[in-house]
Amino acid sequence: MKKLNILLAASEVVPFAKSGGLADVAGALPKALRDLGHDIRVVMPRYYIVDKEKYGLKQLDGSLGVPMGSMGEAWAAVYEGTLPDSDVPVYFIEHEGFFGRKGLYDEDGIGYGDNDNRFIFFSKAVMQLAKKLRFKPDIIHANDWHTASMPIFLNTIYANDSDFENAASILTLHNLQHQGKFYKGAMDVLGIGWEHFNSDELEEYDGINLLKGGIVHADAINAVSRKYAHEIRTPEFGWGLDGLINKYSDKLFGVLNGVDYNEWNPSVDDFIAKKYDFDDMDGKAVCKSELQKEFDLPVRNDVPLIGLVGRLAEQKGIGLLASAIWNLMELDIQIVLLGTGEKWAEHFFSDVAAKYPEKFKCYIGYKNDLAHRIESGSDFFLMPSLFEPCGLNQIYSLRYGTLPIVRATGGLDDTIENYDPDTVSGTGFKFYDASPEALTGTVKWAVDTWYTDRPAIDQLRLNAMHKHFSWDDAARGYEDIYYYIISKRRSSRYK
Ligand code: ADP
Ligand code: GLC
Repeated sequence: MKKLNILLAASEVVPFAKSGGLADVAGALPKALRDLGHDIRVVMPRYYIVDKEKYGLKQLDGSLGVPMGSMGEAWAAVYEGTLPDSDVPVYFIEHEGFFGRKGLYDEDGIGYGDNDNRFIFFSKAVMQLAKKLRFKPDIIHANDWHTASMPIFLNTIYANDSDFENAASILTLHNLQHQGKFYKGAMDVLGIGWEHFNSDELEEYDGINLLKGGIVHADAINAVSRKYAHEIRTPEFGWGLDGLINKYSDKLFGVLNGVDYNEWNPSVDDFIAKKYDFDDMDGKAVCKSELQKEFDLPVRNDVPLIGLVGRLAEQKGIGLLASAIWNLMELDIQIVLLGTGEKWAEHFFSDVAAKYPEKFKCYIGYKNDLAHRIESGSDFFLMPSLFEPCGLNQIYSLRYGTLPIVRATGGLDDTIENYDPDTVSGTGFKFYDASPEALTGTVKWAVDTWYTDRPAIDQLRLNAMHKHFSWDDAARGYEDIYYYIISKRRSSRYK
């Protein structure tokens, strides 16, 4: 098969800027595609926090003109670096006005008022950059609403541009909740013509919906797990787009994310107190006691320690946890939580920590090294999400022998196998109802198993640690879709 030119854009990429799993994916999938022989280029904004010196970024000659419709031409500088341990080029679009700010999307929980212009600008800059680099893409790979305009641009502004004559587009849906809904005036900035402002394309309740437009125009859409690909076709998980997604179900896929096992792996992890692996688990106990010390919890090996890492957003089931927490605090357990997000949750969980200093601790903030230490030092990892497109932390937990306790939704359901006491099979503990009772009941089940059947816990740990969710598999899944949409697009061109 011909090797492909792939242009992948994302609003965040590890290690340069990250708020969640999208960055992990955008930092790892391109390397796996490169390993399959493709020429992949990654593009992201040059936010203020992207450290040019640390990453040795080099400025490209000249500046990049980006037509912004009624706003006129905007100009960007472009920097180039590579993804760590690879030769995959990463280009950074720099624009002081749009990206020279503290946050990625918001500051103190308040979204920037010009996010429409910022990401329309970025998406168009990516297209313009391909032309500047004389990089003729076979594939344009967009991610979430921030770059969902790229498939729209491909079918409109660049439809007759010979630099894009071979290109087909794919949009990965990491999270359908966030759709990029804006005042319709943004149509003038998109510059694609008001004829596209209709309910079959970008219009929704007299505003524009960029993700909707991307879904309509992309040649393929990929939800990040098979179950999520089913769920988003229902009103419960579709966030108003289930009808549209059903209409386009023939181009909907569900390739699951992978894990970068160079980063998330207790046998090589430099952030943790002592490395360990299946054949030598001593280090895990050391990680646990060091974690207890770090959080100023009683150092006890006998007590089950439950970890939680994630955005404190409703999606993550923090409301369920808040309702369940008083019952959980009756149990002989310890909980450590690392997260940042909704203010009520930050205050609430800090209050719980003040009330139960021997049992509950939290670190409100974003701290990558601590996330690794929680993965390694905990016995269980709790993810009670209301919905979860894929979820990465539960998959990381498996590798660390930290048994996930999850709500069976989206990628959580696809990646975790429920414990079966009869056969001592499974990799974690699942519950189905989005209720505090179900959450509490399942935590109790896990904790009871801990106190009454340690051989079973040890076996589940080994089951978990032997699971492998490779990026190589995911990259091959994407590769199949790429070839499929290229041929689909070619045949429609000759009709
Ligand atoms: P989502 O993308 O919905 O936030 P994922 O489970 O896919 O959820 O990915 C979350 C990623 O962000 C993981 O790599 C996790 O370790 C990281 N993360 C989330 N919150 C924090 C935090 N407060 N500190 C450090 N890492 C965090
Ligand atoms: C999103 C989802 C999460 C997924 C991640 C990477 O932010 O919430 O479930 O793992 O994207 O695809």
